[in-house]
Amino acid sequence: MLIAQISDCHLTKDNACDERGVDRLAQLQRAVDFLQEQWPELDAVVVSGDVSDDGTAASYAQAKDALAHLPCPAFVLPGNHDLREPMRTAFAAQGYLPAQGPLCYAQRIGDLQIVALDSLEEGQVAGVFCEQQATWLEGQLKASAETPTLVFVHHPPFATGLTGVDEICLREGRERFWEVLAPHPQVLGVASGHIHHAMSAVHHRTAGALLVSTCQGLACQFHHDLIGDAMGGASIDPLALRLFKYADGQLSAHLRSL
Ligand SMILES: [Fe+2]
Repeated sequence: MLIAQISDCHLTKDNACDERGVDRLAQLQRAVDFLQEQWPELDAVVVSGDVSDDGTAASYAQAKDALAHLPCPAFVLPGNHDLREPMRTAFAAQGYLPAQGPLCYAQRIGDLQIVALDSLEEGQVAGVFCEQQATWLEGQLKASAETPTLVFVHHPPFATGLTGVDEICLREGRERFWEVLAPHPQVLGVASGHIHHAMSAVHHRTAGALLVSTCQGLACQFHHDLIGDAMGGASIDPLALRLFKYADGQLSAHLRSL
């Protein structure tokens, strides 16, 4: 099984280039072309939030059109720059988003289940994991105890190892999130976006260790100083995406430059 993660496209209604002259739609199309050409055997692609920068219907229409060229199903989840209702409307025809409430869903992809959470609190940079989602996730994991699962949530619900970053990640409900995951060894990984930087770590919970990771941003990469406390400037890291491979009961995470 091969699942690709792309993140933080930050599309805008008029596809305006950012202050560095980056054409964000072109970056997304480049990622789609790369996956189509290099990985035709892909099972699914997940866009882990900040699909849009301005929450407009036009930006979601651009994303939908670009993702339609993938060789496999694509799934989106909201980030702090997204707006829930325009996103729900734009991707309604794909059938995986709920008609109301948080944009959480579970999808069986061959041997694997992907679970997407909605950590968006509109108008806020940091994310939340609310009780409504906790109840839903608990029920979902109990009902799929035998299915290896990869959870996607825009705001990292784990320590990133980066100074100053964790306070803008999953701010509310982090303990509750891990309380829900604690008894479920079938959850093999938690994958996030938001920090426009790729990291991975081992996280320990009652049911054993699992892989936690983030992904590069397609719109831009942030520089995070691993020693001091500088953060937020532009990085020279290459544009990249993640590939998750699941084989022989093991989940592994890989980075691929575009
Ligand atoms: Fe972002």
